[in-house]
Amino acid sequence: MNTIINDIEVLKAKTTKINEVDFDNLKFGSVFSDHMLECNFKNGKWQAPKVVPYGPITLDPSAKIFHYGQSIFEGMKAYKDAEENVWLFRPLDNFKRLNISAKRLAIPELPESYFMDGLKALLEVDKDWIPKKDGSSLYIRPFVFASGNGFHASPATEYKFIIATAPSGSYFSGEVKVLIEEKYSRSANGGVGYAKAGGNYAGQFYPTQLAIEKGYQQVIWTDDNTHEYIEEAGAMNIFVRINDTLITGPTSDRILDGITRKSIIELAKSEGIAVDVRKITVTEVVEAAKNGTLKEMFGAGTAAVISPISGFGYKDQDYTLPKLDDTFASYLKKRITDIQTNKAEDPFGWRF
Ligand code: COI
Repeated sequence: MNTIINDIEVLKAKTTKINEVDFDNLKFGSVFSDHMLECNFKNGKWQAPKVVPYGPITLDPSAKIFHYGQSIFEGMKAYKDAEENVWLFRPLDNFKRLNISAKRLAIPELPESYFMDGLKALLEVDKDWIPKKDGSSLYIRPFVFASGNGFHASPATEYKFIIATAPSGSYFSGEVKVLIEEKYSRSANGGVGYAKAGGNYAGQFYPTQLAIEKGYQQVIWTDDNTHEYIEEAGAMNIFVRINDTLITGPTSDRILDGITRKSIIELAKSEGIAVDVRKITVTEVVEAAKNGTLKEMFGAGTAAVISPISGFGYKDQDYTLPKLDDTFASYLKKRITDIQTNKAEDPFGWRF
């Protein structure tokens, strides 16, 4: 039966899978809620989105996503507090970034109401899927891809925007050891590194596999030209703490404007932590590791929030970071997740 929530048509699933899910032992992004939001672009415009049962989609083998990779996505989370209120974190920033990515990949931009009202309707229908356990959340994956057909190498005329959700636990378990990349790169000036384009992630898999074979879990991306500037950590932004200053690279063509990244910058500054947004060189990180001033390194992103790095490899040499009792990483992670989950005041107006 069809109902309307927030002006959005809802076609409810006939059965629920929720009883098959062990909410106490959730992995990241591997079970999916009963519904998804679906919205099609055709005849030159985005059609009204609908909430429909989660399930496979049928595409023509010539759909341009398969050939030319027009595909973008976002990562968000919904949280439930002790009173069962549902919270999002800076969702409009995800909407805006999705359209920044869309523009770069020649994908038609989405209307804000389709994204926001559609998301709210979806969460209303699937609110029982939002975990309450500490460290768990409903991971939200909005994505857009070229569903239109044809082998001609040009933008498709039809697209699909879908929001799927997955009750999830933590992305990484524990600290990660990383390899500073000397050969491959994830992005280049004038490229698509600043967009959340699927291909940016596909291009990381092979160098990451090589790093894993050498005993590391992730790659630290360096600039494509000199490999001397530290830019990102795996699929996340990166922060380096030298003495008591947190340093992260400035956003650019090559670095994603991460929502967790910019929240950490603002939060850390408001807590009196010195933050330097500037280019970081591999040389200074290696020097700091050698002279003991390198205190912490961590990745920052929606999925993992903050992911501490235990050590790094560079030019066949391993460097281990100190084990501190009180880290900026654990302090900032707690502060930000307390804000996200309504356990602490939100002086920034981030919670939604
Ligand atoms: C996120 O942190 O949400 C991301 O987009 C990374 C993703 C590849 C899991």
